[in-house]
Amino acid sequence: MIIVNSEREKELFSQVYDEINKYKDIVCKDPFRLHYHIMPPVGLLNDPNGFIHFHGVYHLFYQWNPFDTKHGSKFWGHYTSADLVHWEHQPPALAPSEWYEKNGCYSGSAIEHEGKMFLFYTGNVKNREGNRESYQCLAISQDGIHFKKKGPIIRLPQGYTAHFRDPKVWKKGETWYLVIGAQSEKEEGRVVLYSSKDLYTWKYLGALAGGNMNGLGEFGYMWECPDLFELDGQDVLIVSPQGLQPKGYSYNNLYQTGYFVGKMDYKNINFEHGEFIELDRGFDFYAPQTTLDEQGRRILIGWMGVPEENEAYHPTIHHRWIHCMTIPRQLKLKDGRLYQKPVDELQMLREKEVTYPHVQIAGRAIKLEQVNGKAVEMILDSMHFATESLEISFKGHARFIYDPVKKRATLERKSLKEDKIESRHCEVPSLHKLHIFLDTSSAEIFLNDGEEVFSSRIFGDVADESIVFSSKGKVTFRLKKWTLRKIF
Ligand code: FRU
Repeated sequence: MIIVNSEREKELFSQVYDEINKYKDIVCKDPFRLHYHIMPPVGLLNDPNGFIHFHGVYHLFYQWNPFDTKHGSKFWGHYTSADLVHWEHQPPALAPSEWYEKNGCYSGSAIEHEGKMFLFYTGNVKNREGNRESYQCLAISQDGIHFKKKGPIIRLPQGYTAHFRDPKVWKKGETWYLVIGAQSEKEEGRVVLYSSKDLYTWKYLGALAGGNMNGLGEFGYMWECPDLFELDGQDVLIVSPQGLQPKGYSYNNLYQTGYFVGKMDYKNINFEHGEFIELDRGFDFYAPQTTLDEQGRRILIGWMGVPEENEAYHPTIHHRWIHCMTIPRQLKLKDGRLYQKPVDELQMLREKEVTYPHVQIAGRAIKLEQVNGKAVEMILDSMHFATESLEISFKGHARFIYDPVKKRATLERKSLKEDKIESRHCEVPSLHKLHIFLDTSSAEIFLNDGEEVFSSRIFGDVADESIVFSSKGKVTFRLKKWTLRKIF
């Protein structure tokens, strides 16, 4: 059933279709279009939204500005999939058509209730004085495709600025809960909790994390896109703080994403938690969202980008589009840390397996026959190091390095803005396995079964499909490599 919320919405949807058709050819001709990562059909994509497994179908919505490669009045774009690998683009789900969302249907989440899909999202408004207003809104769907808007359900409480957004909803027992990313009037990032019995009326329960709670100290001026869930007997809060200063290997991107592991006390409204740990070590990762699927897996998809960072320098803007999602990853908690593992379904992409049972690198740079390509998966295991670093360069443009003496993993790439090499690091006491996904313009590198991950866009020379291994001393490993099929 087609639902029309307003004439304005109808008009906006039809402008979106015009825009897709107008730029289809230009977009498709871009050699940096990815083969198996979710992208916008035109315009700018940012956060994953409303990720849900609904009646056996995965739905992933996304922040979308169809009309520009810059941020603006966001729509919710929409993809569906039966298997987390093959995705179908659906009609846009939400357009910024009503007074309470006129400058953007901002990020939010989805839940299933009585067979229907409920979307919770932030209505972003710039008022006549040029000030921001923020409304938490609800939209409901029978079929998961067309949404009836119910308008605002939560207004801004006292003590916060209008940087109050990104509701994530879940159910515990008979009660619904929702966390929101917030900025206090003192300009400290916070996560705020609400509860509801009926999904329409929400009660403010207070701040859960941020400010100086749990002895965190100063920790950024705004926290975006919180996600709180139970995993392996503990509670995990993922959040994207803004305003952290670089500290050694940590916080070197403009904005960060990380998590706290702790215990939720629903009775006393308290989340006691440990330290903040960065979720990804690469150049491009922000605002991820998780869902619990019908098999009981906690799956995460992130935005492979960072707001305002390098956006004017992505070559894809000349083809009228920008940004993509990461591959879906299953989360596990081990010794108080999150491990990310590419979902098994991604094996459906594999073609042309190549195996090297024993590779030895010593002294000079080598290429291995058939180990190259645009879209590639590689597993290196049984890795043994003496004292020298291993280096793997991708497409002449990015380089992964592991140094067993410094116990440090590094990803380098050519800067998008300047003529220099930039790098990100993390500490890894020992490395025994690498699982690498390369696409036409991205690399995702999983260390030791997802103990650490580097996610980054890499824009090299499109004709260069080389993978080169080198080491000054002796490094040995087993290698498997596949070519990955093109889905998009
Ligand atoms: C995070 C974010 C969210 C907001 C959305 C707007 O990248 O800034 O806080 O809802 O993007 O597109």
